Amino acid sequence: MPYFNRVKSLDAILATAEKKSLQRSLGAFQLTLLGIGAVMGTGIFVLTSEASQKAGPGMMLSFVLAGFVCLVAAICYAELAAMAPVAGSAYTYSYAVLGEPIAWTVGWALILEYALGASAVASSWSGYIVGLIENLLHVRISPLWVNGPAAGGYVNLPAAAIVAAVTGLLIMGTSKSARANAILVCIKVSALVLFVVLALPVMNTANFHPFLPKGITGVTGAAASIFFAYVGFDAVSTAAEETTNPQRNVPIALIASLTFCIIFYIAVSAGAIGSPLGAQPVSGADGAVLSPGTLALTQRCEALVAGGAAQPLACSHEALAHILRSIGWVKLGNLIGLAATIALPSVVLAMMFGQTRIFFTMARDGLLPARFAAVHPRFHTPHVVTLVTGLIAGLTTAFLPVGKLADYSNSGTLFAFATVALAVLVLRRVDPARHRPFRAPLVWIVAPLAIFGCVYLYASLDLIAKLVLPGWGLIGLLVYLGYGRSRSLVGRGIAEAD
Ligand code: ALA
Repeated sequence: MPYFNRVKSLDAILATAEKKSLQRSLGAFQLTLLGIGAVMGTGIFVLTSEASQKAGPGMMLSFVLAGFVCLVAAICYAELAAMAPVAGSAYTYSYAVLGEPIAWTVGWALILEYALGASAVASSWSGYIVGLIENLLHVRISPLWVNGPAAGGYVNLPAAAIVAAVTGLLIMGTSKSARANAILVCIKVSALVLFVVLALPVMNTANFHPFLPKGITGVTGAAASIFFAYVGFDAVSTAAEETTNPQRNVPIALIASLTFCIIFYIAVSAGAIGSPLGAQPVSGADGAVLSPGTLALTQRCEALVAGGAAQPLACSHEALAHILRSIGWVKLGNLIGLAATIALPSVVLAMMFGQTRIFFTMARDGLLPARFAAVHPRFHTPHVVTLVTGLIAGLTTAFLPVGKLADYSNSGTLFAFATVALAVLVLRRVDPARHRPFRAPLVWIVAPLAIFGCVYLYASLDLIAKLVLPGWGLIGLLVYLGYGRSRSLVGRGIAEAD
């Protein structure tokens, strides 16, 4: 079969899902909690600093813009997830609608989303645990061992350690427990409620001026980075097989979890801007605004603090805790730090889990070596893909700063989201009669908006982040042509891949 029109039949995918008798136990509420659990993390707890450096107070608009793009993408996801409530998310949908080469490219891009996403969250966890140790135990930890070379250190040891720990947990079989997730979501949401309740009433509106110190490009650049804060809602669609009445509950949970986060994030960013620290970007001695995640910014931050100034928001690795301390709530700031320290590893776990399942599905489709899909004899987990994922996440988090990792992750995610929106439109055209339990409203406006929004945010990323996607894609193409194309089960006419 020519490889460009190899598609995995949607009916075969559905039949396979029917046969798999996973217990359907999750309702709309639990599924929404699952979505919030996967979404809330580094973006809001840490990248707020990065966004302030890129956009100043205009970062509030960045949260709105990125949230809007995610919302229209989520509506497209909801149509496909309700039709094909199976694991594999964007990869599986593209296999059914757009064919194998595109599906491969999406699966390959999802490695950026999930593996580098996990690595970004691990890196941000390091900022919180270090802040907590320094503030509670008054022990100073050398920045050389908590920063990669770009920020003037050797290696980010705590970040690599948390990835190693999560890899171990995943191999031993800890994946997702709805109850544990609900507790962690409560911790995260309580921390953000606490922040909003303490920060909003004392907001200094003068801090909102100048609102756009870096203009509209600052806002779009920050939106492209802060997009990371919303990533993860697609975790809802991967749990579709374990959901009661998925046709109804998956769309509800996708849209509800995202809307909840958008509202919270806007309130948190307003509180951050109005705090005594403000959100104006840090400039070098020459007056030029410095780039986040660079040695120049680290050194400027150190110089400002050494000179007796309060550490600016853009310099903090534990943004929300630092802001509360600046308002005078030192103990509650530490409490938020503790909440982030407890809850962020669950986001690392969710992202690494997602990555292992994508690798696993691709290996079972014959596009990656079957060895990848090997299951551990004792733990019954896909230990090989888990180790590979741990290795990618561990090495990247050890040496790259959180903002860069989040941007690289975003480049892959934006591509996957745009492809899903395209798949919705293509399927409406080629198979209009198929039953759609959830129909995206105004699809000919919503899906093109999602595609345009993703392309626009991608174009607003830093140059290197923009280059990561085509560079990674090229490597993926070579792997596909050299390996997967000739071994694909669909290509060899073996229908039942899953
Ligand atoms: N949205 C998730 C986070 O911000 C990935 O950590």
